[in-house]
Amino acid sequence: MNLSVSSPSNINHQTMTTSQISLRHVSKVFPGRKGWLNKLTGQATSDFLAIDDINLDIEHNTFVSIIGPSGCGKSTLLNIIAGLSSATSGSILMNGQPIAKPGPDRGMVFQNYALMPWMSVEDNIRFAVETVYPKISPKEQSRIVKEHIQLVGLVGAEKKRPNEISGGMRQRVGIARALAINPQILLMDEPFGALDALTRGFLQDEVERIWEQERKTAIMITHSIEEALLLSDRIVMMTRGPAAKIDEILEVPFPRPRDRTTVENHPAYLKLKQEMEEHLYRETRAVEAARLSR
Ligand SMILES: Nc1ncnc2c1ncn2[C@@H]1O[C@H](COP(=O)(O)OP(=O)(O)OP(=O)(O)O)[C@@H](O)[C@H]1O
Ligand SMILES: [Mg+2]
Repeated sequence: MNLSVSSPSNINHQTMTTSQISLRHVSKVFPGRKGWLNKLTGQATSDFLAIDDINLDIEHNTFVSIIGPSGCGKSTLLNIIAGLSSATSGSILMNGQPIAKPGPDRGMVFQNYALMPWMSVEDNIRFAVETVYPKISPKEQSRIVKEHIQLVGLVGAEKKRPNEISGGMRQRVGIARALAINPQILLMDEPFGALDALTRGFLQDEVERIWEQERKTAIMITHSIEEALLLSDRIVMMTRGPAAKIDEILEVPFPRPRDRTTVENHPAYLKLKQEMEEHLYRETRAVEAARLSR
């Protein structure tokens, strides 16, 4: 397992063939509002460079977290990897092939769950399986659904609708749905952001357990230093935007399988935590300073 970030200019794709995901010089500009009506109503805006010249290699079976100040471009980056959004420039390769649109090789867990409200827990998961594997028998589809309901601990809640279950359970459905399509990569955008501290801690432990079992490449956005340290092999720290970049990548050396206590007692824990705190504090302070000087 190995992930590296290189300086932007001197990278050769040929030397990086083992990467599962490979980003080169990826930038994203959101076009401004320039129409005459926007000008007339004073809503005209200029183009906005969100992320700038991102270079990143992610190896198979690695758990990577992305952390950075709010609004720096983490979701923009993840959505580009998911194929939900396109980069303005640069190349995004998965197993050497360009990523142009969403695909069953990538399973996404959204912060706001994004479940079908009229469907039961099992139907939400089944819908994803049917969509991705229309040719497998209903019996096999049911087996996959059942297996993933068990995996995330939702046995007993199969027939309930999203509004009849808690936020933590909804997020479990989101995780089960993403895993049920058997993606090569699991993408998670602040998967525990909306949960209370206890549920969050519990689900983090569950994700750690599931990850040990499945060992899929995972890319997770988080605002939580502790969460990133518990789950990740590498932590990508982004600078503030606009034109956000990767500042540094931390290697997380804790042995697996992990639990909270052994992670927190590891000799490297405090130093890594401190480094992340300093990074986030510095970048967030700069965002505030820029805001106040406007
Ligand atoms: N569709 C869009 N059009 C214009 N600007 C956008 C669009 N989507 C995002 N942005 C801008 O790009 C920047 C990065 O947004 P993004 O959502 O990627 O940040 P983030 O790091 O995920 O933030 P958070 O931690 O708050 O979720 C922000 O300044 C945001 O306002
Ligand atoms: Mg975001």
